[in-house]
Amino acid sequence: MLGLCIGIGSSCTPKLGNTIVEDNMMFAQLQLRVAFDEIDYARTNESPESREKREKNGWGELTNPRNSEPDGSLHLVPSKDWTSGFFPGELWYIYEYTQNNFWKKKAQQHTDMLEQEKMNGKTHDMGFKMYCSYGNGYRLTQDERYKEILLQSARTLATRYKPAAGIIRSWDHNKNKWQCPVIIDNMMNLELLFWATRESGDSTYYNIAVNHARTTLKNHFRPDYSCYHVIDYDTSTGNVLKKNTHQGLSHESAWSRGQAWAVYGYTSCYRETNDTTFLNFAVNIADMIMERVKTDDAIPYWDYDAPVTEETPRDASAAAVTAAGFIELSTMVPDGKKYLDYAEKILKSLSSDAYLAKVGENQGFILMHSVGSLPNGSEIDTPLNYADYYYLEALKRVMDLKGINYKNI
Ligand code: GLY
Repeated sequence: MLGLCIGIGSSCTPKLGNTIVEDNMMFAQLQLRVAFDEIDYARTNESPESREKREKNGWGELTNPRNSEPDGSLHLVPSKDWTSGFFPGELWYIYEYTQNNFWKKKAQQHTDMLEQEKMNGKTHDMGFKMYCSYGNGYRLTQDERYKEILLQSARTLATRYKPAAGIIRSWDHNKNKWQCPVIIDNMMNLELLFWATRESGDSTYYNIAVNHARTTLKNHFRPDYSCYHVIDYDTSTGNVLKKNTHQGLSHESAWSRGQAWAVYGYTSCYRETNDTTFLNFAVNIADMIMERVKTDDAIPYWDYDAPVTEETPRDASAAAVTAAGFIELSTMVPDGKKYLDYAEKILKSLSSDAYLAKVGENQGFILMHSVGSLPNGSEIDTPLNYADYYYLEALKRVMDLKGINYKNI
């Protein structure tokens, strides 16, 4: 059953490509308006400890919402947080859908809070932060200022490339544990680099992205096409030092969101390069996902290998990323319908009462029931901004695929 049916002429028939898209794009607008109030409240009521920590570390202002905390408070993050770009990205998708300047202004406002990140070379998360926010903004407005910010972001990300190993370093933390950790999530930051070569004509970014994707393909995957979370490299030889997890059940398990980043990442690499090695890889990962996710509703548990009990949490974010990736993949192969069907199954589940929030609740987030990092006791069974972002992206991809009109609301 759909969580919400709004609008004249809509019905509750869960027919993807029509009502389900329109109802949920409408629902997203209502929820994001709730989010604006929640953000104001959280900003004004920030705890003294949080303010002191932020000021002591020079993190700057609070920007966008990330998740709901167990005590019911809204977690706003400074721009340096890896998730700071998703909320503005959602606002750009709503602007694209509605063509309404209210959303454009809101999207600009929440994007502009992130500009300083263009110089932040301490993290690989540049694509998540800047391409989801400024990238969508530039795609929709052609604003030259956004283009310059994105190009600087790509330059900064490229400084993390380690040529002898052929990878971009992911994290700087845990230096006593890893020499040069690369996480599968990093595949999601390559689109920014491909974009930068297209816009600048400088092939450096493209080459870095391709090398990173090839090295990851070689070292991150098991014979069944499931992937490790963290690969540790020796940056002088390129040798693999460790194959670990940080957010999964165990080193050898298949962490659900990692598998989703992988299929999405290799699908976009094929789009950008036309290299069929990447396409074949994306297909193999997709087939592994469909084989391994055994839940009735296609929403995975937080790790494919997690023992299943009544309490085992699902990860709606992994499902949303998978759906967005599968929709694109479905357009690239002759038998793509099976991937579209699977994505539609995911979207129907996410759009049901089981995962979709009730209007006015869930602190303005659209989806419930995601997992951030269970082994670290963080964000377990909670709304997460990136689940919402990729859910909206998946709905947009359905609209593009099925020729559903964008509205002037
Ligand atoms: N990129 C971090 C995560 O997926 O949790």
